[in-house]
Amino acid sequence: MLADRRILLIIGGGIAAYKALELIRLLRRQGAAVTPVLTRAGAEFVTPLSVAALAGEPLHRDLFDLTTEAEMGHIQLSRAADLVVVAPCTADLMAKMAGGHADDLASTLLMATDKRVLIAPAMNVRMWDHPATQRNLATLRADGVLMTGPDSGDMACGEHGPGRMAEPRAIMAAIGAALSDGPLAGRHVLVTSGPTHEPIDPVRYIANRSSGAQGTAIAAALRDLGARVSFVTGPASVAPPDGVTVFAVESARQMLEAVQAALPADAGVFCAAVADWRVANAAGQKMKKQAGGLPALEFAENPDILATICAAPQRPPLVVGFAAETHDVIAHATAKRARKGCDWIVANDVSPGTGIMGGTENAVHLVTAQGVEDWPRLPKDQVARQLAARIAAELGAETGAAS
Ligand code: CTP
Repeated sequence: MLADRRILLIIGGGIAAYKALELIRLLRRQGAAVTPVLTRAGAEFVTPLSVAALAGEPLHRDLFDLTTEAEMGHIQLSRAADLVVVAPCTADLMAKMAGGHADDLASTLLMATDKRVLIAPAMNVRMWDHPATQRNLATLRADGVLMTGPDSGDMACGEHGPGRMAEPRAIMAAIGAALSDGPLAGRHVLVTSGPTHEPIDPVRYIANRSSGAQGTAIAAALRDLGARVSFVTGPASVAPPDGVTVFAVESARQMLEAVQAALPADAGVFCAAVADWRVANAAGQKMKKQAGGLPALEFAENPDILATICAAPQRPPLVVGFAAETHDVIAHATAKRARKGCDWIVANDVSPGTGIMGGTENAVHLVTAQGVEDWPRLPKDQVARQLAARIAAELGAETGAAS
């Protein structure tokens, strides 16, 4: 619930602005107060009257509005809130934020605020992919700006791909996480999840049976404890959780790049089932059947993401690896912990008979420097909550911040 919380909501100019109306409704239903700000472009998509009526508060539109300035200046307006949310956040607003512009009310508020800022980007797929937007995105991330979405899918402009604004339900989850006063509030945790796909040619790939269920549950549990979660996921069959920053990748090498881009973090949980090998001679065109001949695939070793990060200068203070084994689980997991240089290993038996890989339950052993704990077989979301609580306790203990 968001009772007694105030959200400064900046509505940018995009077709997704209509979803901001639903967001206001959901916020108010949860008890939050909404200070609405509508940009000039935003007012082309939703009417000032509907925004003000739904918010139940006066709408702010102009930097040099004499009445507003007399009652409450824009500096105060930006500070009276608990969180600033920009939805939809256009490519132009992102550029202004990254460049430090303050030439209208929205950009001035974003410069003047001393509160956290959460953006829900929305734009055409080419604008999202444009190097300028990606540069601005990296700058905003480095500045600590929180982000939810964008989603992939069909867009109002008829194109397909990333750029659709996150749904109001997902933005609400991100707002809840940003305002959480859980034990991981203010902490950044990186989670890798899902399988990787290693291309053979443009239409074929090598994959594995990971569904991404356990990594998704862990990311959601960490979010629920207040962490800012960067979720680096391969092509999983379960949808990523709401309220986390998703980095969608396909191959192991892309996953490593995304992980490096998301660091630094207070903790890293490496749950992904990364392919150990890729096809070294992957074809640029579809491989055709040849009479009497079989393709000769050559393999190359993929980078070990967990081991690479454990040895990197930006190693998070707490690194948790996973070990999926089919025999001698504890012995292999203990050796893996030492070999990869991580602090903990969550080991599980993924033999077909266990139904764990792709299933809803998990039976794990937590291997740490202190020894091995056997956890009972539990639903994956319960394993996730237990692990998240352990991570929170460990980070709290480390900094003494738990008290
Ligand atoms: N891992 C990784 N990068 C890889 C391979 C594995 O980051 N290229 C991580 C996994 O996310 C997991 C841990 O390393 O946290 C162990 O993964 P697992 O597949 O069990 O181990 P492997 O290193 O592949 O060893 P083996 O295949 O010999 O069991």
